[in-house]
Amino acid sequence: MKGLKIIATGRSLPSKSVTNDDLSKIVETSDEWIYTRTGIRSRYFCDEGENSLTLSISAAKKALESSGINKDDLGCIIVATLSATYVTPSTACLIQRELELPENIPALDINAACSGFIYGLEVARGLLSGSNAKYGLVIGVEQLSRILDMEDRSTCVLFGDGAGAAIVETEENTLYESVLGTKGGHEISCPGVNNFDDGQKSYVSMDGTAVFRFATSAIPKCIDMLQQKHPFSLDEVDHVVCHQANSRIIDHVVKKLKADPAKFYKDMDHLGNTSAASIPLALSEMDDAGMIKDGDTLLLVGFGSGLTWAGVLIKFQKAKKVS
Ligand code: ACO
Repeated sequence: MKGLKIIATGRSLPSKSVTNDDLSKIVETSDEWIYTRTGIRSRYFCDEGENSLTLSISAAKKALESSGINKDDLGCIIVATLSATYVTPSTACLIQRELELPENIPALDINAACSGFIYGLEVARGLLSGSNAKYGLVIGVEQLSRILDMEDRSTCVLFGDGAGAAIVETEENTLYESVLGTKGGHEISCPGVNNFDDGQKSYVSMDGTAVFRFATSAIPKCIDMLQQKHPFSLDEVDHVVCHQANSRIIDHVVKKLKADPAKFYKDMDHLGNTSAASIPLALSEMDDAGMIKDGDTLLLVGFGSGLTWAGVLIKFQKAKKVS
């Protein structure tokens, strides 16, 4: 199978930023409690007229524009999400219509929670390898604010909304190695966005301690599994982008691996945990800030509800825009 590289990124955030102090007016909490345990200071929540579809469309438009590719050359549309606006039609289908993308290509949503974007890269690679098309659109998007219980301080302070998009290109012989894993469990659970039993909406619940333990072992495990498939040292990687659940999870892993903390990007301070959107949002921020150089090797690691985990070694090669 061919390899895959990222050639462009885009992102979109809701207009409303919600600080820890804002939340402390709703539930009994404080900026100090939230920040010291999670590294989060604020997050974005969708306001009226904003939802996971509008965010996805905006992020996809930016990624397409930045890539400079002809949108008719896209070979698939993959959206990773656990909080789609509609169960059906899928977000991917609605993006196809809204952006007038080609009809004769697969468009689908997938749910692998916080590992979803990496699962999406793998799905795109498989689909593109079996087609004549070179380019794919992979999006991670969440509107988690709609499934948060704003009376539950143990969860409502952790999550945020947003969308990140990437244009990917298949290429023979380009570096690409991935590992994906699953161990079914209810450590993080949400019975259903549209489940209303006895008038009760269903919300996210989580066993925080179990998730912390899982996350801090899943990241080194993914890296180790990748190294077994393709020997490399962290020194050879330009940037490590882990799912942005919690700053302490990343700090713990950096210490365990005796790694250089500067290689591990963090943006949960202003975005919170945006599940499937967190890795592509981080990539887009880094891209815009000029942090990623052409040809850089990225190590992306996701972990989350399911339980799922995923790691990928992938190149970032900026598309050469035709002017
Ligand atoms: N503000 C103030 N107090 C709080 C809050 C809050 N927002 N939330 C919980 N507390 C209280 C609890 O009620 C408890 O009080 P008690 O001792 O009187 O019973 C106390 O704080 C300690 O609660 P813990 O849950 O033990 O707090 P902990 O120090 O473990 O931190 C946290 C909780 C941050 C969730 C931690 O378990 C963690 O980092 N878990 C990792 C999970 C994570 O990051 N999940 C993200 C989503 S999943 C994913 O993306 C994979």
